[in-house]
Amino acid sequence: MSKIVSGFSKFSKNEKIDWLTNNFTLSGNKSRKILAQYLNVDKTLQQLHDDFIENTISNFYMPYGIAPNFIINSKEYAIPMAIEESSVVAAASLVAKFWSDKGGFKAEVLNTVKVGQVHFMYKGTPLELKDYFKNKKEQLLKITDPITKNMRKRGGGILEIELRDKTLELADYYQLHVTFETKDSMGANFINSCLEAIAEEFKKGDIQIVMSILSNYVPNCVVKAEVSCEVEKLHPTNGALFAEKMEQAVAIANVEPHRAVTHNKGVMNGIDAVVIATGNDFRAIEAGVHAYASKSGKYKSLTTCNVKEGIFTFSIEVPLALGTVGGLTSTHPLSKLSLEILDQPSAKELMQIIAVAGLAQNYAALRALTTTGIQEGHMKMHLVNILNQLQATQEEKIIVTKALKGKVVSFSGVADVLKEIRA
Ligand code: MEV
Repeated sequence: MSKIVSGFSKFSKNEKIDWLTNNFTLSGNKSRKILAQYLNVDKTLQQLHDDFIENTISNFYMPYGIAPNFIINSKEYAIPMAIEESSVVAAASLVAKFWSDKGGFKAEVLNTVKVGQVHFMYKGTPLELKDYFKNKKEQLLKITDPITKNMRKRGGGILEIELRDKTLELADYYQLHVTFETKDSMGANFINSCLEAIAEEFKKGDIQIVMSILSNYVPNCVVKAEVSCEVEKLHPTNGALFAEKMEQAVAIANVEPHRAVTHNKGVMNGIDAVVIATGNDFRAIEAGVHAYASKSGKYKSLTTCNVKEGIFTFSIEVPLALGTVGGLTSTHPLSKLSLEILDQPSAKELMQIIAVAGLAQNYAALRALTTTGIQEGHMKMHLVNILNQLQATQEEKIIVTKALKGKVVSFSGVADVLKEIRA
């Protein structure tokens, strides 16, 4: 029997759950119990979550952790991170502590320009289009006045509208390339509203609007962060070798995309965790960051590492279009708490904090990879996860952890030790 359903969004939550569990899960009772376990007992809070999306039937939550001891531009931070991957928060905390007595992290926002585009088709002569745009430009800005009024009060708004001829790449394709300053808001709704108003005003018989949408590629909304210290301070016995291997690790990522993707994935472990914890759009950030990593035509490392005159410098440059007002940042209680923990940062300050989180994470990964290997740190958390999967008691956990100290952890290995204990 077909499982295609009509009017699903109009079902009550219980009706949705009944329909789902009857049609798509093995045990209705078991599934209902799991879904119910993750519902919030506070009805108002649950309603808030229900309203974030359509067809909410439960909540899917992730651990929310804190990485303390970050010093960024001489200010102390405890950074909230929402992430499910073992070791990320621990690694961030260790690296933060390590750099805290070496001057901490320095960060600087290079620019904050956001982009939106009206994509359209036009078959007429380019010169006529150019003239039409020139005469219309003033009016295009004017038509957005009611939308941009508040933003302009805050020092933002539309920066420029440009007509771009893209016909060499695609026949008849042109665009209005619009740049924005959106201050402390991420600005997606603001930008899209402006673009749609501009498109409506711009269109005419021979101009066929295809779409109007912001771009998540923001190569002019970039933040830079770095740490540096004397090479000897990097390692208790051989700072020079450590620095050399770190440099080599980054150099490898710059020439080998297979490595660069994993290298940058490690950066994103730190970035995404804070982006999510502060209620920002991690898909937008991911898309923009990876495009930036390929801006030279080749996918490369987001971080750089060099040693000059005995000074080791490790830095990152990433585009981050973030907000600290509006959207989830103002509605999700945990996002609001994250921003409070971070001392109510401006969007610019949050860019700095998040770039630092990415840099710290990459430093931790490369430090582990080029010295002990990544598994040593991972194993401890991995073991906890396996023990939880095998429903080990607290007592069993202590015994197994002792038994496997320094050994390679595998699911079957842990299961065997547990079996022995239980026998
Ligand atoms: C794992 O989540 C991230 C790493 O693979 C990053 C890296 O290899 O640089 C450890």
